[in-house]
Amino acid sequence: MKLVHTIADLRDALRPYDSPALVPTMGNLHAGHLALVKAAKARGDVTVASIFVNRLQFAPHEDFDTYPRTLEADCEKLQATGCDLVFAPSEREMYPEPQGYKVQPPADLADILEGHFRPGFFTGVCTVVMKLFQCVFSEAKGPRTAVFGLKDYQQQLVIRRMVKQFAMPIDIVAGATERAPDGLALSSRNGYLSETERAEAVQLSLALRALGRDALAAADGLERHLPALEARAMQALAARGWQPDYLTVRRRDDLQPPKAGDALVVLGAARLGSTRLIDNLEI
Ligand code: PAF
Repeated sequence: MKLVHTIADLRDALRPYDSPALVPTMGNLHAGHLALVKAAKARGDVTVASIFVNRLQFAPHEDFDTYPRTLEADCEKLQATGCDLVFAPSEREMYPEPQGYKVQPPADLADILEGHFRPGFFTGVCTVVMKLFQCVFSEAKGPRTAVFGLKDYQQQLVIRRMVKQFAMPIDIVAGATERAPDGLALSSRNGYLSETERAEAVQLSLALRALGRDALAAADGLERHLPALEARAMQALAARGWQPDYLTVRRRDDLQPPKAGDALVVLGAARLGSTRLIDNLEI
């Protein structure tokens, strides 16, 4: 496995290959990321993981400075998983001058849910992902693949739509969420949880499961009953000491409020102590 830090070295290393498969990450890798790498390996003739903590997608009060940076351990895990190439650029390499050009995703998809509670988040994500795609795929001759985790459900939809609207010849593949034995979705931010919080954390996925059951039981009355069901789910989590941002049932394709008969996803974000967790469940 090769580790490169510059765009020029990345492009040199990619030259012999036709079909790169990319897994963009911010590092601090866990089994969820490694499952995405395995999915990528099945699709390209070279598997690339990028590791870059992207300042553009963090608000000033968020955890950019404290986000765990664990390059050496990440590289060991990637090597053991069969990754071929790691691109770990510095901030100066990715943003040598202030990034004035940005990708502005559409409000109907990107200013709701995560985008509502983290204004500018998806602009930061789309901008860096567009740039990573340019770095990795610009010289490719064959099919190009990028793999994103379904754990960030809204993110993979936003990226999918960006690729479609810009006619980028890239297959977006979604990898299933990996969970701890108790059901907690794996996340780099789980490392922020205290022992007591870690034991409590699974309650977010249990709350989503319960809301999903209630939504399915509402059947034809879904539209009418949903606001009360969502409010009850938020209250139940708040009563356990969480600060929920949203627990909601949406249409899978575009995350709009659903009608009876739509394919559904339940999504939630809530703060436990100082750690904000997100999770989702297709039902
Ligand atoms: O999901 C992430 O880790 C990040 O949002 C991504 C896609 C690597 C962009 O920085």
